[in-house]
Amino acid sequence: MSGKWIKVAAPATISNIGPGFDTFGMALNNPFDVIEGKEIDHGVVISEITGPGADSLPSDAGKNSAGIAASAVLEKCGADFGIELKIKKGIRPCSGIGSSGASAAGGAYLANLICGEKLSSGQLVMCAAMAEDVTSGGLHADNVAPSILGGFTAIRSYEPLEVIRIEPPKDLGVVVAMPDVMVSTKEARAVLPTEVSVKDLVFHVGNASSLIHAMVTGDIDLIGRSVKDSVFEPARAHLIPYLKEAEATAMSLGANASFLGGSGPCVISFFSKEKHVGEIIADGIRKMYGDKGMECDTWVTDWGAGCRRL
Ligand code: HSE
Repeated sequence: MSGKWIKVAAPATISNIGPGFDTFGMALNNPFDVIEGKEIDHGVVISEITGPGADSLPSDAGKNSAGIAASAVLEKCGADFGIELKIKKGIRPCSGIGSSGASAAGGAYLANLICGEKLSSGQLVMCAAMAEDVTSGGLHADNVAPSILGGFTAIRSYEPLEVIRIEPPKDLGVVVAMPDVMVSTKEARAVLPTEVSVKDLVFHVGNASSLIHAMVTGDIDLIGRSVKDSVFEPARAHLIPYLKEAEATAMSLGANASFLGGSGPCVISFFSKEKHVGEIIADGIRKMYGDKGMECDTWVTDWGAGCRRL
């Protein structure tokens, strides 16, 4: 048995977004992975991986986030067939913009299409999050939820899973700056504290609450004031060369907020598209890294839709 090829796009995402460690995330318009799949007799087979960082990714479906997520969907749907996958990475692994999350989300979404869309989006998020658990050193859905649902997402609860989706302001622009350094999520989770103080808890609850309010009401200045993290980014800052300098450069060029994307190394800047030019912020960060002798890729983009069929 061999089905027709189906192709999907699975977007990069930013996670944590200041106070929302493992809870807040946002889908990006660009970049994204493209995943193709078709029904086969049995098993999950990855026949091709291309694009940036493809060489570093396992083609064993039991170790690859797209393969693990697709298997989880097949099992949940009770499918009596398998799937062949071809993955075209648009997002380099170890980037901080949800590379493994995009592949997991795309693998789950694609498998569900092949199975006749039997699962809800919440079930897809859980299947994709299980893949993150295997490949990234901890079950977290803050990349896979926005990659599947699009927009801004907040995970109210993991057990049971409850995800809130919010439409961010149209005017919110995003600059992604990726310095030429690899930071694995496993490594970046290993340096985190296991407990936080009441003072930090109060700080995070205040900023998280106001960030949600600002997303809902479209208040980009308040978004900027609320993207604050007193625990997780400080614990990881030593893993990302010139993080503070990159953030300061972005803020001096009109960004409303500049922060570590997920577990890094990407530096994310939010800006108002009405008031500022993203390319100026991107050029400034690239120049700062260039002056320090480091390469840095940038994307000027905005928030976007979740997984979709191409
Ligand atoms: N919330 C996760 C972390 C995202 O910060 O470890 C990883 O991409």
